[in-house]
Amino acid sequence: MGNRFLSAIRKRSFLTALLGGLLVLGALSGCDMSGHQSTIVTEGPVARHQLHLFYLTLGVSIFIFLTVGSVLAYAQIKFRSRKDQEGADDPPPQTHGHPLVEMGLIVISGLLLVIIAIPTVRGIWYTSDTPDRENALEIKVTGYQWWFKFEYPQLGFATANELVIPSDRPIHIELRTLDVIHSFWVPKLAGKVDLIPNRANHMWLQADHEGYYWGQCAEFCGESHANMKFRLVSLEPAEFQAWAERQAGDARSVSDQPVAATWEDLNPKIEFAAMTEDAPPGALSSLEGWRQAQVPTAAEDTALINRGRALFRDKTCLMCHEIKGHGAPGITGPTLTHFGSRTTLAAGLLDNTDENLAHWLRDPDSVKPGNIMYRDGYVINNIQLTEDDIQALVAYLHSLK
Ligand code: CUA
Repeated sequence: MGNRFLSAIRKRSFLTALLGGLLVLGALSGCDMSGHQSTIVTEGPVARHQLHLFYLTLGVSIFIFLTVGSVLAYAQIKFRSRKDQEGADDPPPQTHGHPLVEMGLIVISGLLLVIIAIPTVRGIWYTSDTPDRENALEIKVTGYQWWFKFEYPQLGFATANELVIPSDRPIHIELRTLDVIHSFWVPKLAGKVDLIPNRANHMWLQADHEGYYWGQCAEFCGESHANMKFRLVSLEPAEFQAWAERQAGDARSVSDQPVAATWEDLNPKIEFAAMTEDAPPGALSSLEGWRQAQVPTAAEDTALINRGRALFRDKTCLMCHEIKGHGAPGITGPTLTHFGSRTTLAAGLLDNTDENLAHWLRDPDSVKPGNIMYRDGYVINNIQLTEDDIQALVAYLHSLK
């Protein structure tokens, strides 16, 4: 009776394991390894280094799994109790073990740990030591619930939620937080590093070539943790330089600046390389889309924009948001000085289109639950916006290139 029960369990657990294995294989075969946040398709030296370490650890683990699994399977089949055997229901003879086998297993396990440990320690040194430090670009990242501030201390400006870097140059990053623990992660470029209250962490990364990358806060930080995203745009040095010069300046005012027709008009001296795209052409969330976002819209309604500018002041938006050159000094929310040149809004949640911005202004809490703009702005200051107000604010904010 006991035996039949045991063999039924064995048969069932074997079937379950087989089914589970098939499911995992099926799921893996459907995986897109080159997705926006892939750690398998790497595009920078730090991520590549970490991927090699992952493969080594995976290889050692698979070796252990196969070895132990086959010995176990062999022992189960070879030494199983047989019905026709005499004394099949009795426990097998008890022995102390085999000292040589036991010592051998300990030594082999120790060796396998050493094989993993040496590259791991070297990897820790490699990822924490910014190479060519004097030439590296310094970025100060500050986490807020729920967005990222990116400061460029050497260049004297800050931006939010979209980090633009030159390609093929080490980027030294200092990580801090103003509230709770966050984590900075651009999977294709480098592993995650936490932003811890009251201390600065450091990391470095580098992009092999120009590109448009997805980043994500990777540490639970409250209600909208999953909505705390960001983008990283990597540009050829000359294009980065042109971008940085514009960022260092004040926000654009529609009345005193002619509209540039194209991105090439803005940067006449830059030769554009063929674009590497992983988004449909024209989509905002791509390098091409990012370049389009740098250019002011040809058909601008100056009166509407100026009404939006007045509303930004009258509705007290300027208490929390900075717009350099427009008398908006706020520091608690993301800077909006060049907001119109970003491809995303609400911490990388939405493409920065007119419709999405209107939706965000109309009902921010439905886009990013718990967000501070709604709680400390809309609710506490009793901010009410009509549809006309929203259209004017959208026109104004998108004119800020
Ligand atoms: Cu910030 Cu999760």
